[in-house]
Amino acid sequence: KSKYKIGFLGMGTVAQGVWRHLEENHSEMSRRLGADYELSLACVRSIAKKRGVDIPAEKLTENPDDVVLNPEIDIVCELMGGVDEAFKLVKKAIELGKIVITANKAMLCEKGAEIFGLLAKNPKSQIFFEASVAGGIPIIKSLREGLVANNFSLIYGILNGTCNYILTRMERENASYDAVLADARRLGYVEADESLDIDGIDSAHKAAVLAYLAYGRWVKLSEMIVTGIRDIRLEDMIWAREFNYRIKLLASIKSDTAAKKISVAVYPALLSLSDVVANVNEVFNAVALEGDLVGRTVHIGRGAGQNATASAVISDIADAFKALNSNSQYVPHSVQNGVEMMPLKDI
Ligand code: HSE
Repeated sequence: KSKYKIGFLGMGTVAQGVWRHLEENHSEMSRRLGADYELSLACVRSIAKKRGVDIPAEKLTENPDDVVLNPEIDIVCELMGGVDEAFKLVKKAIELGKIVITANKAMLCEKGAEIFGLLAKNPKSQIFFEASVAGGIPIIKSLREGLVANNFSLIYGILNGTCNYILTRMERENASYDAVLADARRLGYVEADESLDIDGIDSAHKAAVLAYLAYGRWVKLSEMIVTGIRDIRLEDMIWAREFNYRIKLLASIKSDTAAKKISVAVYPALLSLSDVVANVNEVFNAVALEGDLVGRTVHIGRGAGQNATASAVISDIADAFKALNSNSQYVPHSVQNGVEMMPLKDI
């Protein structure tokens, strides 16, 4: 095919960033992505609503089936968020053999096992989800490709931009929690339901995605210990600093390789200032990995915001074009059903 057609479910902050970048840089992007494309249709909640990008009226619909069931559309970008409705549409798209791109970490965490089960039965379909974890860090690609040879004893890091932004500005400026949260919302970092960020659930969703890539097992929220930043006070931060530590909301995935057991947790942690991760501030995320071949690697980049996340979605579009040309489905680790969870009381 000389031109691939892309449809969008949802046209919020991230989708608008993708749309704008692909329209404004069409010829250079199609050269880099290896194929020409058309942004064919976007399903939105309200066509009448004003948005930051100009989309011709004939390219907007309020019916998601116009995108998903459309035989012309090769790639469905699910950027609407939420779990059940998004999953229903993704399921249909997979069954129709389409390429799905999603940034939806909540859906992946809750429905990942079902989604990958569906993919196994629909070999023409594929899913790409670089934007679901740490937008500006190509960590999904790193685990699938660059670091594929490794077994990991430990993966930890900062996976929520909003919480890191709040902690940073509270510590630096003694800014009030409410004022910083309002800024974070204005900058497009915060989930529609902010408790997903603040209570550590968003970090847990992302940890589940990383755990799947590293260990081939979908970990449920109920199998993790999850604590957010609600109870952190400025005094805690000042006290930590006195001892050369900083408080960060960490997600950690530890493994006992011999016992084939893993534990996944999210919690505010005291990190030594000598650890580079402790110095990753504002909206930046970090992922540190201990691999048996590579040793320690640390990846840093923006974890939220329109352009950093759009950058990740567009890298998935590049992968989608490659897949449409060659059709090689991602194969998860073989330990998929062999990894057990450590009892929560042992963590
Ligand atoms: N609310 C998320 C965060 C957005 O702050 O990290 C990016 O996943």
